[in-house]
Amino acid sequence: MNSAIEGFYKLGVKERNAKLREYGLTTEECAVYTNGLDLETANHMIENVVGIHALPLGIATNFKVNDRDLLIPMAIEEPSVVAAASKAAKIARASGGFKAEATDPVMIGQIQIIGAAKDAEKKIMAAKDGLLEKANALDPMLVKFGGGAKEIECRLLETERGEMLIVHLLVNCGDAMGANAVNTMSEAIAPDLEALSGGRVRLRIISNLAVHRRAKASAIFPKTEIGEDAVEGILDAYAFAKADPYRCATNNKGVMNGADAVTIATGNDWRAVEAGAHYWATRNNAVEPLCKYWKTESGDLAGEIELPLAVATVGGATKTHPNAAVSRKLLGVKTARELAEIIASVGLAQNFAALLALSTEGIQRGHMRLHAKNLAVMAGAKGDEIDRVAEHFAKGGERVTMESVKAALEKVRRG
Ligand code: HMG
Repeated sequence: MNSAIEGFYKLGVKERNAKLREYGLTTEECAVYTNGLDLETANHMIENVVGIHALPLGIATNFKVNDRDLLIPMAIEEPSVVAAASKAAKIARASGGFKAEATDPVMIGQIQIIGAAKDAEKKIMAAKDGLLEKANALDPMLVKFGGGAKEIECRLLETERGEMLIVHLLVNCGDAMGANAVNTMSEAIAPDLEALSGGRVRLRIISNLAVHRRAKASAIFPKTEIGEDAVEGILDAYAFAKADPYRCATNNKGVMNGADAVTIATGNDWRAVEAGAHYWATRNNAVEPLCKYWKTESGDLAGEIELPLAVATVGGATKTHPNAAVSRKLLGVKTARELAEIIASVGLAQNFAALLALSTEGIQRGHMRLHAKNLAVMAGAKGDEIDRVAEHFAKGGERVTMESVKAALEKVRRG
């Protein structure tokens, strides 16, 4: 499969769906994308359902991750994100695309103990094997496939209400996000921890700071594609974000524009991903950019991202939301690790595209050109007409409205 479908955005919705069929989706799967979630299913997902809140689902083109061409489903309300990801992927593609890897999917369950005895930690660690066995007995399927509770750690925490003993239960969650497994296991061993510690257990809950479950992606953005000034511009933008929390928050929001959109399209918990990513960015006691950039010896721009990504290919809305299965098929992912690698790559792509625009022509010009392109397609422009209408507005000065775009299209057609 070749994901570099030039001018995919110039097609109509039906033609884009036809392309997805060429890329392996069935007519029924394309229909799932257009129809989305049904009310009956929605009514079983959350409480007090009265309707369905839909989001646009777009496809980012040009992606190559670990030598595999990919069409990336992105669910997002914000214009220019899908275009920006596609543009960045096209540039990275010139040097082979993204290389990505992910760690084992290990999550932390936290058990809070108040008033533990002095020797509590020693007693808990001595009983570790039995505690892990008890936790694993609750999920034999997870254990069968190599997952399950793997380790116990103790931390003493000074708080405004005195010292607390915090026990971490480390669980390899396999292809699940893991909240259910981790919370069930944490609750199950809590009475034993009370008995061993002589204290009182309060909270028993998963941590969204998934430090053990991280994904990394990197790419080279060749200077021949973006120009030497853009390489310097992006390095200046990176330095700005490193030095200034006001800029860094916006920079990292740009990363999450991409990461969240794929997380949502695959039925995953984007609040968990957001919480993990933003806290990870502050792990060294100051907020840092999620993506790093440097210049290679040959003068190209190298980019790298690393962030916690607790995403799943089984369980929760990845199972109940019909779009999620179609997105997984389109991405060709079987494991949560593969999905995390793709999401990290899209996060890097998104940040790169935003910095490229910001450090050169500015965000508004590209945004307006894109808005004009989209309106031109809606006004019936075909082929070259779309770019010519967009160029008309790229000079600035004229407001981009449906009326002004229709007038520009007529002008283009009159020559
Ligand atoms: P362009 O220069 O007009 O694009 O960029 P191009 O004509 O060179 O086309 C290159 C490729 O981009 C195309 O390849 C498409 O893949 C894609 P082709 O198909 O021709 O082989 N592309 C499009 N895809 C879909 N629809 C389109 C379209 N146009 C091009 N209409 C672009 C235009 C918007 C991509 C560029 O200006 C850009 O990347 N801008 C950044 C946009 C952005 O970051 N948006 C996020 C919202 S702003 C925000 O919230 C985050 C921020 O605050 C973060 C931060 O501050 O760090 C910015």
